[in-house]
Amino acid sequence: MMSGKDIRLRRIFHADGRAVVVALDHGQFKHEPKGLENIKEVLSRVVDGRADGIILNPGPASQFASVYAGKAALILRLTGASTEHNPNFDYHRQITTVEQAVALGADAVLVMGFIGGRGEAHSLELLAKIAGDCSRYGMPLIAEMLPVEPDRFYDTEWIRCAVRVGYELGADCIKAYFSGEPAYRSVIDSCPVPILIAGGPKVADPQDMVRQALELGASGVAFGRNIFESNDPTGVTEKLVSMVHS
Ligand code: 5RP
Repeated sequence: MMSGKDIRLRRIFHADGRAVVVALDHGQFKHEPKGLENIKEVLSRVVDGRADGIILNPGPASQFASVYAGKAALILRLTGASTEHNPNFDYHRQITTVEQAVALGADAVLVMGFIGGRGEAHSLELLAKIAGDCSRYGMPLIAEMLPVEPDRFYDTEWIRCAVRVGYELGADCIKAYFSGEPAYRSVIDSCPVPILIAGGPKVADPQDMVRQALELGASGVAFGRNIFESNDPTGVTEKLVSMVHS
């Protein structure tokens, strides 16, 4: 018998077990992120591009439901409370609850997990607590697992540790950076749940990164800036959907 988690996950990961997720949650950390000034417009364009899911903070999730409902799955961000002006990058707190995610119609929730900084213990404790809430409500948990030091963001060893910790604490799916190395297969092999590749800063052509990540076993992408900073968010989303699901 399928559980509530399985049913919700099917709305994000279709029959091929892969997904294209678009992250539009940057406004919680940055004042007017470039390309996201009109979030409703971008949301509508990535929905037109047939994104499987979108990551939103509670405000836009509730205000713009008519744009995405029935077309793209909602992944609600549950942690934040730390802007670009806070010197402690890993100072994240819980900003809303799994119960609220249920009320908003979410298909999954997303929680940040930081590795290696002063905020590590708090962030992992919170991740584990929310994993318990998710189990009670049948809500899939996506853990965005990040080494806290920018010079470790793309370090395969650190990413392997980060994704494994996310899985061990109860995540159903991991969002993590791609290091671009063949050794990334060891990251995938060490993590029994699907990994979606996070995008990072906009690059001229993200397709090579996506192709490599899929070949090494990633289950898809969770991209933000590479989509909403482009001139054609619909076209970029369509291209990713065709690569990921072909
Ligand atoms: C918000 C985030 C993003 O969800 C994540 O970083 C993916 O977006 P991008 O592809 O722009 O890195 O955590 O700040």
